[in-house]
Amino acid sequence: MTFQEQILQGIPDALPQPKPYDTTISHAPRRKDILSPDEKKLAVRNALRYFDPKHHAVLAPEFYEELVTYGRIYMYRFRPDYAMHARPLHDYPHKSLQAAAIMLMIQNNLDPAVAQHPHELITYGGNGAVFQNWAQYRLTLQYLANLTDAQTLHMYSGHPMGAFPSSPEAPRVVVTNGMMIPNYSKPDDWEKYNALGVTQYGQMTAGSYMYIGPQGIVHGTTITVLNAGRSISKTGEGLEGKIFLTSGLGGMSGAQPKAGNIARCISVVAEVNGKAVHKRHEQGWVDEIVSDLDALVSRVRKAQAGKEVVSLAYHGNIVDVWERFDKENIYVALGSDQTSLHNPWAGGYYPVGQSLEDSNALMVKDPAKFKAQVEESLRRQATSIAKHVAKGTYFFDYGNAFLLEASRAGADVMADDGINFRYPSYVQDIMGPLCFDFGFGPFRWVCTSGKESDLDFTDQLAADVLQEMAKDTPPEIQQQLHDNLQWITQAKTNKLVVGSKARILYANSEGRIKIATAFNDAIAAGKIGAVVLGRDHHDVSGTDSPYRETSNIYDGSRFTADMAIHNVIGDSFRGATWVSIHNGGGVGWGEVMNGGFGLLLDGSEDAARKLKNMLFFDVNNGIARRAWARNENALWTARQEQHATPGLTLTVPSRVDNNLIDNLPTA
Ligand SMILES: NC(=O)c1ccc[n+]([C@@H]2O[C@H](COP(=O)([O-])OP(=O)(O)OC[C@H]3O[C@@H](n4cnc5c(N)ncnc54)[C@H](O)[C@@H]3O)[C@@H](O)[C@H]2O)c1
Repeated sequence: MTFQEQILQGIPDALPQPKPYDTTISHAPRRKDILSPDEKKLAVRNALRYFDPKHHAVLAPEFYEELVTYGRIYMYRFRPDYAMHARPLHDYPHKSLQAAAIMLMIQNNLDPAVAQHPHELITYGGNGAVFQNWAQYRLTLQYLANLTDAQTLHMYSGHPMGAFPSSPEAPRVVVTNGMMIPNYSKPDDWEKYNALGVTQYGQMTAGSYMYIGPQGIVHGTTITVLNAGRSISKTGEGLEGKIFLTSGLGGMSGAQPKAGNIARCISVVAEVNGKAVHKRHEQGWVDEIVSDLDALVSRVRKAQAGKEVVSLAYHGNIVDVWERFDKENIYVALGSDQTSLHNPWAGGYYPVGQSLEDSNALMVKDPAKFKAQVEESLRRQATSIAKHVAKGTYFFDYGNAFLLEASRAGADVMADDGINFRYPSYVQDIMGPLCFDFGFGPFRWVCTSGKESDLDFTDQLAADVLQEMAKDTPPEIQQQLHDNLQWITQAKTNKLVVGSKARILYANSEGRIKIATAFNDAIAAGKIGAVVLGRDHHDVSGTDSPYRETSNIYDGSRFTADMAIHNVIGDSFRGATWVSIHNGGGVGWGEVMNGGFGLLLDGSEDAARKLKNMLFFDVNNGIARRAWARNENALWTARQEQHATPGLTLTVPSRVDNNLIDNLPTA
């Protein structure tokens, strides 16, 4: 059977052979045994809904076995036999080119070179799922292959609920992931309802088909490390010879050493999982591996003496490194953490003093004991970090819920006001005021031809646009534009592409629209093939997350989620090819609402119209909200946009005299 025939077949009528468990690739950890005996039966009953009753007698015990062995029913037998990777757009059977673009993006998210646990349909972050099981995958691709431009497919947490009549102006796909009744949105609720097969954690770009490998995060991480370096620079000196200590070489955290090299510091990244260490080393994302603390200490001292630009992977626990560097008085200039603390009890964070294997066994066998060990480890880590901070380290939370979970574990990390943390999040100090409030965020694109030459051409077009803009940029955003210009001109040399031919570039509303228009014109002129536009959810407007993307909102509204909801609705009727909205992503289930879009540029006039209307709203919705929250840089951006854009009228805040407020009688 050809690839096309297999896609069109959907769920096969005859059962495929069972698939052996492939031990050569990384698998999701066994999930907590959370379902009661009756609920386990319900989970199997739910799973069997996808199949003809003639197969139920074989599949029922098999799925039950998967559930008790792995904590989930992945339906391994139904994983397709063809290689999983993004193919050129026209290789997909389709009635709608837009639907074919979505198939391409889905396959990229599941490509073993890209995905963290490809056989469990997890793209990144330990639990960031594209689908809950292989039946959903097969059915969805079959739907997409048959979808017309007058239909919309509705995806409920990986499950294709159905294709409905709509119109060519409507999105082809609407995705929701993990949307819960708020009172049922605690971590154990995810474990339970995901095990039942009725919801999933989509992370940000996993369940929305917009992940482009660690490149997506290298750029943001580079901007963060560079600006963190600028903020501690006393005399304008760079990061040469200074240490950046952090943890995690996983899906996104793996970008840290690469970003450290681009920012020219000494990065030390602890990682407990040997497979992750070696994968990142083989991919060239980290320079050297050190497995012994004594060796790490002497290697770091040598790097400091020689002011080397080098990245070191320490194969072991981050807590050991913080404590040992404190004992040795090794000065850490920048410190952070990127373990997966959005998922602390199921393999996101490994406690110090225990092997990876023992932790994986304990979290299933005795979850309460494992939880206590994680909490103890977090307290130790926070105590050691505090000692480093007292010696001058600039520590920032990297959006992985480290401070949130450390505080919940009883570590002394709260500020005096009891609301904020003692250390800033990278959004409060860096990404929020310097990027998001000016409209700069992680715009990205994928060349659907799969050709390197198309990517080179789009890089050049984007660089030309930024160069042109730089001639006439207000001083407020010169640094951002310059950093991004430098990034895009060096992007190819930095060898960042894994999977589809994709590029990320932080840009503001004007930059995104101009770059996208240049792409669409080039497609119309036949110079390149079609391009998918998108972005990370971690952006100006896409995400409401009080301790991350919206942590620099200080009017109390950071605990609301209106912006993300408006964004997804607003994008959907302004021309997005697909839209998504997720509960959970980055910082954890129940902690964030986040959404995004995909937009296919095919060179048409329709695409030109849609991109302008949609990208403008997609950025400026967040500018309006940030300005209303009185963020100075967002107020500046809002003024610029209102001045330049007919039809834009924003509600802006009145200034209030501080004395007036300070002198109010408070009881
Ligand atoms: N700020 C951002 O821009 C940003 C971006 C991406 C991810 N994040 C967050 O960062 C976290 C990591 O993302 P990811 O995709 O890399 O997740 P991941 O699960 O792929 O990687 C995390 C890694 O940390 C390792 N680890 C866990 N505990 C450890 C410990 N005590 N010591 C050393 N290593 C340990 C794990 O083995 C794993 O490989 C997530 O919570 C994610 O949401 C933030």
